Amino acid sequence: MQTLTIIQPDDWHLHVRTGDMLKTVINHTARQFGRAIIMPNLQPPVTNVEQAEHYQQEIMNAVEPDSEFQALMVLYLTNNTTVEDVKKAAASNSVKAFKLYPAGATTNSAQGVTDLTALFPIFEAMQTENIPLLIHGEITDETVDIFDRERLFIEQKLVLIQQNFPALRIVLEHITTQEAVEYILQAPNTLAATITPQHLLYNRNAILVGGIKPHYYCLPILKRESHRQALITAATSGNPKFFLGTDSAPHLSHLKENSCGCAGCYSAYGAIELYAEAFDNADALDKLEGFASFHGADFYQLPRNTRTIILEKRDWQVPDAYLIAENQQLTPLKAGETLHWKLK
Ligand code: DOR
Ligand code: ZN
Repeated sequence: MQTLTIIQPDDWHLHVRTGDMLKTVINHTARQFGRAIIMPNLQPPVTNVEQAEHYQQEIMNAVEPDSEFQALMVLYLTNNTTVEDVKKAAASNSVKAFKLYPAGATTNSAQGVTDLTALFPIFEAMQTENIPLLIHGEITDETVDIFDRERLFIEQKLVLIQQNFPALRIVLEHITTQEAVEYILQAPNTLAATITPQHLLYNRNAILVGGIKPHYYCLPILKRESHRQALITAATSGNPKFFLGTDSAPHLSHLKENSCGCAGCYSAYGAIELYAEAFDNADALDKLEGFASFHGADFYQLPRNTRTIILEKRDWQVPDAYLIAENQQLTPLKAGETLHWKLK
């Protein structure tokens, strides 16, 4: 049987929620990954160190006892974030980054930032304290087509942040377009990007052809095939500016199969297997370890993991759903389908 042994990967972009949902999904992640960057878009959002430490404790209480998994925390930037918040975060052991959600961009982003330039003193402090800025890079202006939102964010906002804060480390999260790949490639090494499994495996036909398929709906939305190809080329290039971030974003099945379905794909149950599938399809399995296990740790200036995981080329069937609580189900990406790589 074909096997692949790699240093244990980390997930540099993950949503785990709270309560019953957290108890299921965090162990799917902890089984594969050494660490995960935990997104702060709870209701209300995680905006200060005390809240982050409280949430981190709730997460660690939900992880199975023998696990060595570590939750790395992120604070949600709002119009009210202060320089003091930045200093406290940089001095803490728990918080590793700040997240910028333009107001209205996605799930639980209503408290997000409305005026980017008003945040410049905060970016200045983050640059001084050497704490990274993670960005959901989409314009939220109603007149902008949903398929153009990432490209225009880069042109209108990201360029401005980079020009003003050349030493600030920035991760453009879950990139989805050829334009994002091109921008990252020409930018200085202070800019990197995460790429999700769904954006490597699917184009926008997955959502729309043959009926509306809500389990493929996430934000930024899947783009046309040429963009998927550009993302595959970037992820498998060996370039350390691109690394793994699943954006696994669990929502109960009935909230996605809805007249106003939530955005988010649930991939944490088989994340490394999904990436292995995408890299195998591109004949680039030799590039998986850098993307999944080295580039992110290096960018975050954290040590690389030392344990290893083994993947076997073996078919297995993804469950139709995971039971979260009585009558509450979570439908995974590729529900009921066959995956070809399995974590040993
Ligand atoms: O599809 C998404 N779901 N994109 C995001 O940016 C947020 C996430 C969520 O929290 O559900
Ligand atoms: Zn996300």
